Amino acid sequence: AQPSRLSAAARGSFATALGALVATIGSAVGLGNIWKFPYLVGNNGGAAFIILYLVCTLLVGLPVMIAEIMMGRKARANAIQTMRALSPSARQPWWLIGAAGALAAFLIMAFYTEVAGWVFAYVFKAISGAILSTDPQVTSQAFTDLVTSPFQSLLWQWIVLAVISLIIVNGVSKGIEATTKRLIPLLLVMLIIIAVRSLTLPGASQGLAFLFTPDFSKITGAAVLTAMGLAFFKLSIGMGTMITYGSYWKEDQNIPTGTARVMLADLSVSVLAGLAVFPAVFAFGFEPAAGPSLLFITIPSVFASMPFGGVFMTLFFILTAFAATGAMLSLLEVPIAYMNERFAISRVKATLITTGLLAVVGAPAALSSSTLSGVKLFGMNFFDLYDFASSNLLLPIGGLFIAIFVGWFWGRKNVFEALTNSGVLKNEGVVRAFWVIVRFVTPVLVILVLLNGLGIIGG
Ligand code: PFF
Repeated sequence: AQPSRLSAAARGSFATALGALVATIGSAVGLGNIWKFPYLVGNNGGAAFIILYLVCTLLVGLPVMIAEIMMGRKARANAIQTMRALSPSARQPWWLIGAAGALAAFLIMAFYTEVAGWVFAYVFKAISGAILSTDPQVTSQAFTDLVTSPFQSLLWQWIVLAVISLIIVNGVSKGIEATTKRLIPLLLVMLIIIAVRSLTLPGASQGLAFLFTPDFSKITGAAVLTAMGLAFFKLSIGMGTMITYGSYWKEDQNIPTGTARVMLADLSVSVLAGLAVFPAVFAFGFEPAAGPSLLFITIPSVFASMPFGGVFMTLFFILTAFAATGAMLSLLEVPIAYMNERFAISRVKATLITTGLLAVVGAPAALSSSTLSGVKLFGMNFFDLYDFASSNLLLPIGGLFIAIFVGWFWGRKNVFEALTNSGVLKNEGVVRAFWVIVRFVTPVLVILVLLNGLGIIGG
């Protein structure tokens, strides 16, 4: 095993347990809640998809998040070195999971920074009134102009990279923790204001019916894979982000309750986003199942239809930018922590290297609607390919191996010690339930969903 070149004291860490919790919520809450969740719900049968997603979150997402946080906290190292350090024998290449995770982090960042770039651009467009039109043709044109301009696509992606770099160089506590502590409460307040506005519009109840009446005929193998992929993406698991953040959690922090709170907070934001979007969409007679363009074409027109729409729209895109920022900080932290600890590269240098690489791998995603729109791999452009490969393949496979590692290789004693804080917490029942789920339920479900979603088994 390679020891860290930094002494334990030189490692960053979150200053308080609350700060650790908020930063972790900051990682989970992101574009997933506001951009992906509503359009996937819209495309996959509304409430039936939400139920599937809940099942995936409880039986797969939460157990994997618990596993990651406790591994990181035990090893106090970045994802790759955590897997190496906890591996029962040097001959078992568990570090490969950490390495695959770093790859997934890059793929996700590549398209995530692009969508975040559109969101940042939309904050300014909302303020200037450029997208304040009730005519979807006008808002659609504005979006097309943005994504088909190679210059603007790259520029906004680079602005996003610059903003998160400036935050993350300040370190784990002064950068990530301090920022998320400010952004997350603001985000919640803005989201609640918009949800209340949306819910009190005449005709809002149709949106509620859409969100909460299940139509199980829409549930196919592909929809189940999508729900599981969303659970992984949403909770930032399966790739070492939560291992990295867990390594900054407090020694006496309660992992099962802490992670459950993160999961609930994240779920609340998703549901609130649904409540902010769908009642208003239906109230003004728009189409709910509008795919990814829901956020950038339908929503501006929806806001433009209501009184003071410009104000609500601006708030909406600011809160989305805040959400994206917290999530991107956690994605960047995975390679930065590794370079910093493994090769003693300073945070500033590691940040420069990472964002430089991202500007390169991100460019194909940024240009996938313009210069490279004709380039298709497996029938997808770069943007969709990065999204599909990370959410629906890399994260579930990473999560599967993490569950198998914790359930079958790390040892029952280690797991019980980590989750009870060496016997201090009296939560035997919870720990036993976790032990059964992580060994049997999680791996079997992930395997079945993967095989079925990829068309290898079932119909
Ligand atoms: N959880 C974030 C979201 O839902 O937007 C996305 C994400 C962040 C995925 C960090 C993975 C990750 F490591």
